[in-house]
Amino acid sequence: MSIFDSLLPMDAVVVEARSPEWWESGLLPEELRYVARASDKRRREFTAGRNCARAALARLGWPSAAIVVGPDRQPIFPSTVCGSITHTSGYCAAAVIQKDEVHSIGIDAEFDMPMEDAVARMIMIPQELAKWYAHGYPSHAEVLVFSLKEAFYKAAFPFCRRHIGFKEVVVHPAGQHAHIELVSPRLADELTGLHIVARVGRDGQRIYCAVFLIDRLRNVKWDADIRTSGNCQDTFSPTAILDT
Ligand SMILES: CC(C)(COP(=O)(O)OP(=O)(O)OC[C@H]1O[C@@H](n2cnc3c(N)ncnc32)[C@H](O)[C@@H]1OP(=O)(O)O)[C@@H](O)C(=O)NCCC(=O)NCCS
Repeated sequence: MSIFDSLLPMDAVVVEARSPEWWESGLLPEELRYVARASDKRRREFTAGRNCARAALARLGWPSAAIVVGPDRQPIFPSTVCGSITHTSGYCAAAVIQKDEVHSIGIDAEFDMPMEDAVARMIMIPQELAKWYAHGYPSHAEVLVFSLKEAFYKAAFPFCRRHIGFKEVVVHPAGQHAHIELVSPRLADELTGLHIVARVGRDGQRIYCAVFLIDRLRNVKWDADIRTSGNCQDTFSPTAILDT
């Protein structure tokens, strides 16, 4: 069981790379060309991501097929599926779900360790971070905000099809929930009609964020659809929900 299982809808399938071989082999010929000249690190993470994504798709009943790379680096899943991949050294996961009420998903995992101030300043406004600490977030809030924005970017990309600046979005805590404020009118326009659900988990080593977009008019049931995994450590897990 992955922490992502507790953060995503019930019918999502999450697969983590658990065995060393998943980082070493298993790419299909069409995929090999993307890493033909890549570093060893990049080839390994790309390989693990494709193996995880293929295994997840197989659990939805899809035959083995190449997951090619789109023009903006996005993984191309079958048109009736939404999916997302994340890797950070030594950890890789992919999540997929049949497109129905959920229109897109994004997952992100990051090591739960301090971030340089200069980097944090590029990613968030000072008040954003201060609010999370004031709210009692027990670990590195700057990593949490970063990871939420990365997961959000992956989920929002199919609707925006462009680079989204980190400061187009402000992430606010709100009780056990949180709120993603779309401060950019352009972004708000691109996501019209969509409700953003985002959930956060920690395991002492990493922070895990999952964001998914659903019809704004059908959001009520999702607030109740929270699975408890028992392997998350804090009050922000797994029930943190971000709404627009
Ligand atoms: C694309 C990005 C989000 C990836 O995040 P990361 O923390 O660097 O890396 P992760 O390992 O978690 O994720 C990498 C995976 O993201 C996926 N990805 C890359 N570009 C993507 C896109 N445009 N849309 C959706 N998924 C994408 C890929 O599957 C990639 O793995 P792969 O290349 O092996 O297939 C990041 O590199 C980036 O460009 N960020 C800037 C934009 C941003 O986040 N803005 C914040 C908006 S509020």
